[in-house]
Amino acid sequence: MNAPLAPALALFSHLPPGERFHVHARAFSAPLEAVAARVPPGGAVADMGCGHGLLSALLALGDSRRIVHGVDPDPRKIEWARQGPGRLPNVRTEVGTVESLAERLPGHFDAVVVCDVLYLLAVERWPGFLREVRRLLRPGGRLLLKEAEGDRSWKHFKCLAQEVVMVKLLGRTKAGGALGLQPRDAVEAMLRQAHLTPLETVVLGEGYSTPHILYVAEARDVGAASAP
Ligand SMILES: C[S@@+](CC[C@H](N)C(=O)[O-])C[C@H]1O[C@@H](n2cnc3c(N)ncnc32)[C@H](O)[C@@H]1O
Repeated sequence: MNAPLAPALALFSHLPPGERFHVHARAFSAPLEAVAARVPPGGAVADMGCGHGLLSALLALGDSRRIVHGVDPDPRKIEWARQGPGRLPNVRTEVGTVESLAERLPGHFDAVVVCDVLYLLAVERWPGFLREVRRLLRPGGRLLLKEAEGDRSWKHFKCLAQEVVMVKLLGRTKAGGALGLQPRDAVEAMLRQAHLTPLETVVLGEGYSTPHILYVAEARDVGAASAP
């Protein structure tokens, strides 16, 4: 069921060199295969903040029964995603936000993947973003939230310095006003408040110079949502 990286990367082979380089750099700096491997099989999956869509490609190639919706607010990125994994029959791409998708397709998704997106938002916006993710999921649906852990290690500070270059100097990634990593406990508390029950927290930073961490959570149903 798991897609190897090579066929996913091949989908970007006709992109301009700068974009290709970006996708290859992403492939080797983030554990995207490990994230994709934890997404339940089949169903409708939203890749929120999909960027060029490498993770969407892994998800779609990994299971042809899955329908993957790659969504990103940056039209440039969505154009590259459309020209890459967007050519697969089980991938849809669109310019949008978590709010616009939740408005149109509430409760539609069996899984939502959010990979290295929240750190671009001011921390005050994280709870609202997670509530909208919850709105996208059917009860029992799965959130896979990949972030870099705010553990104040050297990897934490290296990661922030790298992102300052990507966002502020090179302008390759659009940020929503902040760059910040949050500690594990704080993220798990925010998930609970958004009616997402943390199931598993997986440290994926070994072998990388970024403190990658993956939160797997389940959408509580409305009745259970009001329970403590
Ligand atoms: C570091 S890239 C990660 C791309 C992709 N998820 C991956 O793992 O390769 C961050 C992406 O988040 C997108 N983004 C920024 N703010 C966002 C928001 N409020 N909602 C959704 N995506 C956002 C950016 O446009 C960018 O494509």
